[in-house]
Amino acid sequence: MNKLTIAIDGPAGSGKSTVARRVAALLGYLYLDSGAMYRAVALKAVERKISLENEGGLEALARETHVELKAPTAEQETAGLKNRVFLDGREVTQEIRTPEVAQAASRLATIAKVREVLVAEQQRAGQGGGVVMEGRDIGTVVFPCAELKIFLEASPETRAERRWKEHQEKGEEMTLLEVLQEVKERDKRDRERKVSPLVKASDAVLVDNTAMGIEETARLIVFLAEEKEKLKSGIVEK
Ligand code: CDP
Ligand code: CDP
Repeated sequence: MNKLTIAIDGPAGSGKSTVARRVAALLGYLYLDSGAMYRAVALKAVERKISLENEGGLEALARETHVELKAPTAEQETAGLKNRVFLDGREVTQEIRTPEVAQAASRLATIAKVREVLVAEQQRAGQGGGVVMEGRDIGTVVFPCAELKIFLEASPETRAERRWKEHQEKGEEMTLLEVLQEVKERDKRDRERKVSPLVKASDAVLVDNTAMGIEETARLIVFLAEEKEKLKSGIVEK
């Protein structure tokens, strides 16, 4: 088998989920959204009113929580759904996408013990390869030996605008400035935290898709992946 492990990391709104989903579909790989795991545990903490300062309580919560990622049905996929998320068996696909849960997730994600639990689950889920996993620390911590690592970037304004459009489509009242602030605040926390900060792995390919569409970006990554697949199978073009 020549199937690879592909890691896609980058800041909020850079296009990781959309592009990773498309890359996985084009290559026939499994798509895994690690951020959805942080979001689901964060949602549970918010619902149970566990303080985001309570590190011991949050670690225990992460250990007793089961998050399952499932592929959407063909119909849901046509409607733009990238994956379905189940928290202890309950579907939370929509609930985890609010700005409040995003903020809670990025605070929870600063706790080393919580990360240990989720990283171990991600490694289990991705073992065997043939997987595109996206997040913040996939190429640096979860799969440091991934055969293809992409660091996806886009300007903060473009990323905020993309997110704002999504909120508009869902009928959520947020100004573009509010979304930009949310995204910037989260990026700062993600980049500056002590454990597994958002950073480009030294061997990752930097792809800035500020001025690129989803399909173009996905096909660029598929091109790079196919080159790596050939190398893995021993077919090296002269
Ligand atoms: O997962 P991440 O936060 O990095 O971003 P995303 O949820 O995949 O993408 C945010 C939004 O930007 C989605 O609505 C995508 O359709 C859109 N997008 C885009 O318009 N052009 C791109 N090149 C990439 C994503
Ligand atoms: O979709 P978006 O890029 O806005 O966020 P996400 O990928 O769903 O991740 C939500 C939060 O979880 C991020 O702001 C990070 O703080 C955290 N996260 C992380 O620390 N490590 C990962 N591998 C994935 C997400």
